[in-house]
Amino acid sequence: MSHTGGCGVPQTLWGAHGAVSPRRGWLGRCPRLRTLLLELLLVYVSVPFLIRLFPVILTKFIFLNFLAFPFFVDLRQPALLLNNTVSLRLATEPGVSVGIWHTVPGSRGAEARGQEQSWYEEALGDAHPVIIYLHGNGGTRAASHRVQFMKLMGAADFHIVALDYRGYGDSSGYPTESGFTTDVLALYDWVKARSGNSSIIFWGHSLGTGIATNAARKLQEERGVQVDAVVLESPYNSIREAAAHVPITTIYRQFPGFEYLILDSIALANMFFRNDENVKVLACPLLILHAEDDAVLPVQLGRKLFETARGAYKDKSKVKFIAFPKELGLGHDYISSNPELPALVKDFLNMK
Ligand SMILES: *[C@@H]1O[C@H](CO)[C@@H](O)[C@H](O)[C@H]1NC(C)=O
Ligand SMILES: *[C@@H]1O[C@H](CO)[C@@H](O)[C@H](O)[C@H]1NC(C)=O
Repeated sequence: MSHTGGCGVPQTLWGAHGAVSPRRGWLGRCPRLRTLLLELLLVYVSVPFLIRLFPVILTKFIFLNFLAFPFFVDLRQPALLLNNTVSLRLATEPGVSVGIWHTVPGSRGAEARGQEQSWYEEALGDAHPVIIYLHGNGGTRAASHRVQFMKLMGAADFHIVALDYRGYGDSSGYPTESGFTTDVLALYDWVKARSGNSSIIFWGHSLGTGIATNAARKLQEERGVQVDAVVLESPYNSIREAAAHVPITTIYRQFPGFEYLILDSIALANMFFRNDENVKVLACPLLILHAEDDAVLPVQLGRKLFETARGAYKDKSKVKFIAFPKELGLGHDYISSNPELPALVKDFLNMK
């Protein structure tokens, strides 16, 4: 087959004649396209080596905190997105202060209107359970699926306290795995000091699942304190495993040295998020939620984590796995839009 000129659709990219053949292949006739393809190839090949040399690059890809969507939202004005909610700040260690939204239970909505932060703080002691919500990577606490979560669980009479970790949203500081744990434990202490005997639940979504189990484990190991429950929505077993499955790494999975150059570099950048190791240590009630049509972290990862936890827990009844059928179309981010969710969670927590 011969081309009639111009940049036709190639039969094979690096065709039998090659670009230097006297008959000049289609690329030979399009020098600019050839240059562009060569440049793309060079970038493609260089990226894994750059990552291995400078693993800290990976923190950008994994945390995505610089993608502060939704844009043009004033995080100090939650009322535009959510009722019964106040925005506050908490210093989690010297020099780091994080932004937080507190949504009070829907049954207190009428009272909450027009109230100051002090009223909200006092409301934490009203015996309703408190969810400390730990969001996934990218965006802020104002992202639509997170707001959806706060609406749904707030209406079901939970307090929800949602932070932007250091480096996210209006929080100061730089994102690190250990820094996230520090932020969450400071928030836990702040809540605990106000919530009396109410249950406190760590609820992690996606990247946040590793933050939830890190924090629960640290509480238990270093202070002998059990959080009242941990809920993991769309989890992974470790960040290394997550990176091997997320769509963004698809183009590198066949790349020679993918594991060494990319996956091993994640640990060099001090990112572990070992849900699998953490759940072996925990003893609190543990609920794992995963959608069968999750295209970011496949449902088998959640199931594997459940098996690990179930194998390790003495009291097997404390561990539960719920898979949401494909037909519901919940995917990676929208389990929080399932109207059955509050009932499932309350049933697990033995609440009315
Ligand atoms: C707040 O509640 C009012 C009254 O129920 C409702 O009309 C309004 O849409 C709610 N606002 C938001 C941001 O959800
Ligand atoms: C918490 O529980 C303990 C023991 O059941 C009880 O003595 C105490 O009064 C309770 N505190 C609050 C604030 O409800």
